[in-house]
Amino acid sequence: MADPLAELREEAASCTRLAELREEAASCTRCSLFEGRTQVVFGVGDPGAALMFVGEAPGRDEDLAGEPFVGRSGKLLDRLMREEIGVTRDQVYIANVVKCRPPSNRDPKPEEVASCGGYLMRQIDLVSPAVVVTLGNFATRALLSTTDGIGKLRGRSYPYRASWLVPTYHPAAALRGGGDVMAQMRADFVRAKRSLHETAPSTTDPGLS
Ligand code: URA
Repeated sequence: MADPLAELREEAASCTRLAELREEAASCTRCSLFEGRTQVVFGVGDPGAALMFVGEAPGRDEDLAGEPFVGRSGKLLDRLMREEIGVTRDQVYIANVVKCRPPSNRDPKPEEVASCGGYLMRQIDLVSPAVVVTLGNFATRALLSTTDGIGKLRGRSYPYRASWLVPTYHPAAALRGGGDVMAQMRADFVRAKRSLHETAPSTTDPGLS
């Protein structure tokens, strides 16, 4: 007979492994970004979430708070999540490709992504979301292993590991770009919500591994 508590046991084990991974990352010195950080910004939210958001790297606000997307971009992310999907940040999981703030908010370098990417891959495997929404060029390119731009990549779902990947603009782009970008982001969030109910693909991902 199937163990009725198996799913709960598995969730508890993955929660413990995520906490262990957070602890491991907290003292990480794999790349030089550790020198300038206030703290590692590991990730936040429900460890068993069906929906995960992935951004680029912490900014100043996130470096100080120790939590991803707490500044202006984060406020917009929270609003779009609530208005288009009907969820709050404690019901999803939010992380970045790179866990320490790059100086002057520059893009993370390839060697920094290579050093840090394993944390994100393990987070995705442990949370095991049905849908991963990548926010902006950087996260989308890193996970899909492409140089195409977000304008070309958005507008569809991609099979990614055991999940769907839905690319959209970074909230900072919507704050800069106004109505058009915002409307496309809203449409992408609706697509992400729909994908939550679609059968998960079973492929290996082409990107970070
Ligand atoms: N931008 C990101 O990509 N991530 C954050 O956590 C904050 C801003």
